[in-house]
Amino acid sequence: MKIISSKDYNDMSKKIANIISAKVILKPDSVLGLATGSTPIGTYKKLIEWYNKGDIDFSSVCSVNLDEYCGLDKSHNQSYAYFMYNNFFKHININMENTYVPNGTNTDAPSECQLYEEIIDNLGGIDLQLLGIGHNGHIGFNEPSDCFIKDTHQVELSQKTVDANSKYFDNPKDMPKYAYTMGMGSIMKSKKIIVMVSGADKSDILKAMVTGPITPKLQGSILQLHPDVTIVADEAALSKF
Ligand code: PGA
Repeated sequence: MKIISSKDYNDMSKKIANIISAKVILKPDSVLGLATGSTPIGTYKKLIEWYNKGDIDFSSVCSVNLDEYCGLDKSHNQSYAYFMYNNFFKHININMENTYVPNGTNTDAPSECQLYEEIIDNLGGIDLQLLGIGHNGHIGFNEPSDCFIKDTHQVELSQKTVDANSKYFDNPKDMPKYAYTMGMGSIMKSKKIIVMVSGADKSDILKAMVTGPITPKLQGSILQLHPDVTIVADEAALSKF
């Protein structure tokens, strides 16, 4: 695993946006694996800024997102489809038909999960996957568990994740208890992976993910086995190294 240290959140966001834009310039029809949460917002802002300056063209890019809450329609303001549209897609020239997020309203979980795997395969796989890491080491919604699940699947969210994310809902009780997520196998098939980590509150989990044992109790630890992972983290997140 390669680690790039950045001064702070803004510096981290700029470095990650640089890596993504280099990828898109080199391969205009890149398949980008995208993430939600608070960490990638600064990266998306930078990419939007450079798009507005005419420096990046997303017209041939495809995107697949890591996960989505079950039960939320894409018009729900906490759905990840809504997040992606409002924080990124509506500001750039990506073709919305080339953007994929699991369909949280499909109640047929096996068929939704199989469809999502087929979408990734039909796109030829993910060229660059952007990942955040949760405080419990989750990647997407691959929560601490006794095993690694390979493909896209439905997951029951851990109490820690429910506690962390329910504050974003007008009524915290509306926070879904289930989600669809790419599996660690789907993620590990990506050609290149960028992990973005910011803040002292992620320093222990980052250290454990990079230097600790590979265990499904810390799902991100399996990334140690991927041949092309770059962690871009700020000094606070790297403070335990
Ligand atoms: P965050 O979430 O970017 O909001 O910290 C990361 C994650 O839980 O995967």
